[in-house]
Amino acid sequence: MSDVTTLEILGSTALITVDNPPVNAASAAVRQGLVNRIDEANSNDAVDVIAIIGAGRTFTAGADIREFGKTPVEPMLTEVCSHIEASAKPVIAVLHGTTLGGGLEIALGCHARIGVPTVQLGFPEVSLGIIPGAGGTQRAPRLSGMGAAAEYIASGRRLSSDEALAKGLLDAIADGEPRAIALDQAERVRQGDLATRRVGELDASLDPDAITAARAAVAKRAPLLVAPQRCIDAVADSTLELSAGLARERELFAECMATDQHKGLVHAFFAERAVQKIPEASETPRPIESLGVVGGGTMGSGIATSALFAGLPVTLVEMNADGLDRARTAIAGNLAGAVKRGKLSQDKHDAILASALTFSTDLADLAESDLVIEAVFEDMDVKKDIFAKLDTLCKPTALLASNTSYLDINVIAACTNRPTQVLGLHFFSPAHIMRLLEVVVGDQTAPDVVATGFALGKRLRKVAVRAGVCDGFIGNRILGHFRKVADYMMLDGAHYSQIDAALEDFGFAMGPFAVSDLAGLDIGWATRKRLAATKPAAERDVGVSDRICENGWFGRKTQRGFYDYRSGKKAANPDVDAILEAERQAAGITPAAFENSDIVDRYMTAMIAEATRVIEDGIALRPVDVDTVFLFGYGFPRQRGGPLHYADTLGAAALVARMERWAEEDAHYWQVPALLRKMAADGSTFADLNRA
Ligand code: 3HC
Repeated sequence: MSDVTTLEILGSTALITVDNPPVNAASAAVRQGLVNRIDEANSNDAVDVIAIIGAGRTFTAGADIREFGKTPVEPMLTEVCSHIEASAKPVIAVLHGTTLGGGLEIALGCHARIGVPTVQLGFPEVSLGIIPGAGGTQRAPRLSGMGAAAEYIASGRRLSSDEALAKGLLDAIADGEPRAIALDQAERVRQGDLATRRVGELDASLDPDAITAARAAVAKRAPLLVAPQRCIDAVADSTLELSAGLARERELFAECMATDQHKGLVHAFFAERAVQKIPEASETPRPIESLGVVGGGTMGSGIATSALFAGLPVTLVEMNADGLDRARTAIAGNLAGAVKRGKLSQDKHDAILASALTFSTDLADLAESDLVIEAVFEDMDVKKDIFAKLDTLCKPTALLASNTSYLDINVIAACTNRPTQVLGLHFFSPAHIMRLLEVVVGDQTAPDVVATGFALGKRLRKVAVRAGVCDGFIGNRILGHFRKVADYMMLDGAHYSQIDAALEDFGFAMGPFAVSDLAGLDIGWATRKRLAATKPAAERDVGVSDRICENGWFGRKTQRGFYDYRSGKKAANPDVDAILEAERQAAGITPAAFENSDIVDRYMTAMIAEATRVIEDGIALRPVDVDTVFLFGYGFPRQRGGPLHYADTLGAAALVARMERWAEEDAHYWQVPALLRKMAADGSTFADLNRA
């Protein structure tokens, strides 16, 4: 008998508890346990009502994702749900926490569902590249109608208790502890006050218009994803008799399970959690109850906004009154936007503005802050000056962080007498929205200071990734390398709009040239100037972006860059073609045609090559850390899992062969990292490195 499920006979109620921490995932033991407990309760003459609850924080959060990809173990969850539904005695479920996926499917197999007011219900299977595979696509439409079920299953969104009640997923809402509610509601069943029924015996009514609308919505929102469309296929077949509908669901579920998208999305799910496992994880973070921000530009204002959302009081320092006005306007805009999007209540918004935010032009006003984040422009001398001043002005226990995107944290730390309390906290723009936070660890950063960076990340609802010191840390260092290949392909003959389109078809939200226009072409221009002195002679020159900038065209903010935005729509900038042509002539290049697949191969291989060097150099702890940086900071398509998960789908040998082929054109750029060569030789993978 499994101890992840228990059965208690309480009067004439059989109470089954699922107890499989942390989230009561429906592992093989839970599945077998549920079948056994239902059978025991049915054969106990003292029992007339059966109730299922979850111990701890949730009913159950669904199938055990760690079992995916392994040999399936009987009974399958769909059989468990059908077994519960077939129970001769009525079975009720009391739902709390996050009742998701297979957890909700277990509940739908029961004969009535009662939710606590705070419960959240949903089918997140699409976020793992699959469809509900235990009857969800067949039973939910019988309760909610085809249109509603297709919408919430294909989107994976969560429903509140009120919405779940309105959509028929819940039969009642009751406040209290699941155990007490279960006994109380079992009595209501006995008294005839709570009706019970088998959902699978209800009819689903055909609604072709709703299905067409759901398909169109998914095609618009997620055109590249397989699973959302398969969810709708399955829901559309819920008018079949239940057994036939379940068979159809299994078929579609198996199809999705076999896709690379599913594997990529599961990798992404675990990646977000794996990055929290750092050497400093057991350290006690230092208390951070107040934040100082130096610099009120886009980054400083975004960081301040993010902290305010999390309830941290912020003092923001700018050089002068104009700077403060700009910061005040930016933060007010960010907060108002959050209210508009329903992310922040009006009351909280008002309270933040009334008491949590202070502005100053005097660094001395940061004297009592627990943590100060510097977010001024990228100039080492300016940063050194600020850190030296902060070191004398701030209380001895204060931590000092730089939001630099590239610069050496060790040099910055050396300007202070507290290098153990200095670290990099690299946010991504817009900092109140983007989830990535690189926690940059200097040579002397103390372990508990690193842990504090991670604790802050969690509090700000960021995904924190540990990074070592180098130019650009993890993300921008890799970007600095692979972005060049897009320029090379453009010079060699691919139009920039073709490159953007090829990479958008691959899954990036935006191609690299559209991104450059959005970020501001002047930023790359400044970086190129900064690094010009150290640029190796063998590295190719592509002057196109510089020529565009020389016209004062910096992208969206000036209405023109690679694209022209003046008509209100994005169109190719015809003047760039002339610049391109002149640059090709100057370099003696006859443009060649590129296949879209070639564009993707070169771009991704360049990304993987530099990512491998980042692992070799110990800048990222593991390949999964690189994947997470790209998923949360660079719009990498989640269904591809991240650059190094994607690399494993190609194999190191194929990657090395490509690079050697392209090295015949440009030996400087296409240098094969030693680690990749070793992996090609011994057949190992980045996944092996993650496990190690
Ligand atoms: N299976 C296995 N492990 C799971 C899990 C699951 N379904 N859900 C969460 N976990 C693990 C996490 O990996 C984490 O492990 P770690 O501590 O070793 O890193 C631990 O449980 C705690 O999870 P979180 O850190 O995510 O805790 P939160 O409180 O932040 O979030 C949650 C809880 C909302 C339940 C979130 O974990 C979640 O969204 N889980 C996934 C839910 C899901 O996708 N369910 C559907 C599964 S597919 C399915 O059911 C198929 C069916 O139709 C046949």
